[in-house]
Amino acid sequence: MTKKSENTVWHHATVTRERRAKLNKHKSVVLWFTGLSGAGKSTLAHAVEEELYQKGCHTFVLDGDNVRHGLCGDLGFSKEDRVENIRRVSEISKLFLEAGVIILTAFISPFKADREKARNLIGDNDFIEIYCQCALEICEQRDVKGLYKRAKKGEIKAFTGISSPYEKPENPELVINTGTQELEECVDIVIQYLTQGGILS
Ligand code: ADX
Repeated sequence: MTKKSENTVWHHATVTRERRAKLNKHKSVVLWFTGLSGAGKSTLAHAVEEELYQKGCHTFVLDGDNVRHGLCGDLGFSKEDRVENIRRVSEISKLFLEAGVIILTAFISPFKADREKARNLIGDNDFIEIYCQCALEICEQRDVKGLYKRAKKGEIKAFTGISSPYEKPENPELVINTGTQELEECVDIVIQYLTQGGILS
């Protein structure tokens, strides 16, 4: 992004992230779910959110399909558009982080470099990359939205896993086998991680 907004001065808030965390009784963090379409990112993110909500946490899910209806509705699936999609989502996540919220993002985010950029922008300590590992064959079998079938027929161009690459995370904080493990087990892994990491009190 080329920065065009000049002559702007940062205004510091008195209600800081630390004060919000004290009020909320939990820290804020970004849970970055990545994986193929149909791997179960959104399902897991929403199930984790439900659990956190029941524990009284302040949360919000940013979901690829939803965000692309509004904020990122002008973006398609070319490499540049996906880069911009993830850039915007990273910036929003950073704002939510300051607002004291536990953010759960569910984007394919297929490119390693973009996930690294997101990590650098948000900060290593606050960025928890969760790889939703699920074999392409399973995603194709599930094909909840019927998109794999269409992509294979050539009706959808640059479809991740079929005609566009997915770069697996090399060193994610968590790898969850969303293709084979029960949803409840997957949720437990994330909650346990947050508890052990002192995010939840
Ligand atoms: S990302 O690559 O920019 O991170 P994002 O998560 O926002 O993708 O959107 C992925 C969703 O868009 C998929 O779950 C699917 O429903 C839909 N979609 C439509 N076209 C494509 C495509 N060419 N590749 C991948 N997903 C697509």
